[in-house]
Amino acid sequence: MARPRVFVARRIPEAGLSLITAACDADVWPDRLPPPPDVLRQKVKDCDGLVSLLTDKIDAPLLEAAPRLKVVSNFAVGVNNIDLAAATARRIPVGNTPGVLTEATADIAVTLLLAAARRLGESAADAKAGRWLTWEPLGWLGCDLVGRTLGVVGMGRIGYATAKRLHHGWGMNVLYTARNAKPESERELKARHVDLDTLLAESDFVSVHADLNPTTKGMFGDKEFAKMKRSAVFVNTARGPHVDQAALARALRAGTIFAAGLDVTDPEPLPSDHELYALPNCVIAPHVASATVDTRNAMATMCAKNLLAGVKGERLPTCVNVEVYS
Ligand code: DGY
Repeated sequence: MARPRVFVARRIPEAGLSLITAACDADVWPDRLPPPPDVLRQKVKDCDGLVSLLTDKIDAPLLEAAPRLKVVSNFAVGVNNIDLAAATARRIPVGNTPGVLTEATADIAVTLLLAAARRLGESAADAKAGRWLTWEPLGWLGCDLVGRTLGVVGMGRIGYATAKRLHHGWGMNVLYTARNAKPESERELKARHVDLDTLLAESDFVSVHADLNPTTKGMFGDKEFAKMKRSAVFVNTARGPHVDQAALARALRAGTIFAAGLDVTDPEPLPSDHELYALPNCVIAPHVASATVDTRNAMATMCAKNLLAGVKGERLPTCVNVEVYS
């Protein structure tokens, strides 16, 4: 029997890639940068399966150009790069990698929160540039964490893991927004389910973990930053388009909020001359939340299992559009 043909849109860790190449005729894109859209379309034309990354746009025209495609396996938990409605309409299951990157992502949320609160980006840059003159009583003063209030926007797995660290580690009070109340968060973290306005007004730290969809796109703009405390620290490890970046820059420059830590931006990469880089109270990481060896290996394995199930016509272990099976 012919082996399934698959396109893998970037080299992923061997833990997953070896499973794929053992079972399929795999064309693996070798470059560091993503395949251009027209090349991607050409590559998937005769494929049974596709491994995509969050940098690959999987839209209706691409799916139409791939009549044999039986599965899209995204090497990410977020699937905002994929037109799910178009995939579902073609009865193509889409896989993602939930769970395995929760802890690594929560670690980065806390890292950015601490770095922004304690002005680490700014002070480290000053030290390196020769601006560390002496030990100064008034130098690089940041804000404390213990006993403060954390606002989690979107209490899913990653929001919970972030809040768990900050509640148990720093004794923070936790507020959260979510479509439904989260009994485990309320029981284990004494978290309070509130509306966004209350969260913005009462939180010392606001950490974003919501999915990106039409209702959350641009949800942080001038109005939202104005509702936060002037001492607030804003952290985003979800997706860049949640935030109106011009509004964030205005808020940071004017002192409407104290600082921000971002692992995600819009676009990615954020051009190196972007105004946010010039602001000392903004720490920016290049979307590294899941970047640990173990986490990326686990993502690769999960991604491969979804792909292999899909090309065999079996149900994906983690499928985001389960309606394709009904
Ligand atoms: C994801 O999986 O969606 C993350 O953003 C990758 O780090």
